[in-house]
Amino acid sequence: MIKVMSVFGTRPEAIKMCPLVKQFENEEEIESIVCLTGQHREMLQQVIDIFGTKVHYNLDIMQPRQTLTTITTSVLEKMESVLEKEKPDIVLVHGDTTTSFVAALAAFYQKIPVGHVEAGLRTFDKFSPFPEEMNRCLTGRIASLHFAPTENNKTNLENENIKEEVYVTGNTVIDAFSTTVKKEYEYKDEDLKKIDFTGKRCILMTAHRRENLGEPLQNICNAVKRIVMEYPDIEVVYPVHMNPAVRETAQKILGELDRVHLIHPLDVEDMHNLMARSFLVMTDSGGLQEEAPACGVPVLVLRTETERPEAVEAGTVKVVGVEEDAIFENAKTLLTNTEEYEKMAKAVNPYGDGYASERIAKILIEWNQKK
Ligand code: UD1
Ligand code: UDP
Repeated sequence: MIKVMSVFGTRPEAIKMCPLVKQFENEEEIESIVCLTGQHREMLQQVIDIFGTKVHYNLDIMQPRQTLTTITTSVLEKMESVLEKEKPDIVLVHGDTTTSFVAALAAFYQKIPVGHVEAGLRTFDKFSPFPEEMNRCLTGRIASLHFAPTENNKTNLENENIKEEVYVTGNTVIDAFSTTVKKEYEYKDEDLKKIDFTGKRCILMTAHRRENLGEPLQNICNAVKRIVMEYPDIEVVYPVHMNPAVRETAQKILGELDRVHLIHPLDVEDMHNLMARSFLVMTDSGGLQEEAPACGVPVLVLRTETERPEAVEAGTVKVVGVEEDAIFENAKTLLTNTEEYEKMAKAVNPYGDGYASERIAKILIEWNQKK
């Protein structure tokens, strides 16, 4: 038996770790323990409920308007006793959040090996995305096992001299995605249900990144305002992140517009099904850059860089920056030029075949046997 403790705390980590935990629960040779840091609260619980994941610990650290320091210190302090009590054979963390890095550090302090799921993504700019680029670099240094979604991610690790125990597994988001998207689907969210999309094109947008707070987010919202004013057949759905700094700006610039729907964060089933039915996705999120291409929906990335070049190379994702004019002009092209739209609206999925969780479970069992 191998005792695996999965530690996660934010919405995107949960969406990508719950399918893996489900896989562990089906494996006779794995004892699965789940420890939530609670870096997020409501947005995390939404995901746990959908997947029905059994949670053993919740450190419940979230504070309104929390700082990176408070997340770091509370996770580090609270992980100590959980790790001492459970003594797992391995701790698994995901991606690039502060939860991931600090949980890895806490495990390292007790000489517990760490497995990094979604390893090897890089922008090569330590301040962008901030603090995620540094979080994932540091997690990579601590980890003993690296589960890279793509060959490109593996190469990034090799270039940092991380060559042992690097496995290309695909991304577990595709595992999740294949169970949430349905042909016939009725939305659950009351606000979403009320929107009449007949004869309309839907732009699904999200924006929340720390480095976009302030002027960049204002520019993004102003560009969206121009888009709806220019194109009467556009309905913009923006499920707004619960961060008050995000909500204030979105409400101020977009709150009064009839065809911009500022709604609460959607649960992942509503979100994936809405995405699959949208004309265009505009986002600064990481996960959406993986999901939307898989269902043939073009993505404009509201950032200056991306750690996910695979879909950019495939032509379905375009990085457009955070200036109002550039965002507006790129959206305008896709709204008015069918040829350009069709070039981007093709289904590509460089991120996996839906079996990443199975692969990771198998690797862990084999790793335990050869220890
Ligand atoms: C975090 C991650 C980011 C990830 C994002 C996904 C870090 C540093 N950042 O950023 O990489 O892309 O999650 O969404 O790890 N809040 C609530 N309820 C919730 C969740 C958040 O009220 O369920 C509010 C709180 O006021 C909280 C604030 O949002 O203080 C910010 O949350 P935080 O986790 O610090 O940052 P995110 O921007 O969500
Ligand atoms: N998501 C969701 N509901 C929302 C917004 C996003 O379920 O209202 C999902 C989305 O489909 C993706 C993940 O959350 O799977 C992305 O999370 P987020 O944008 O918070 O973080 P990032 O991917 O940027 O780290």
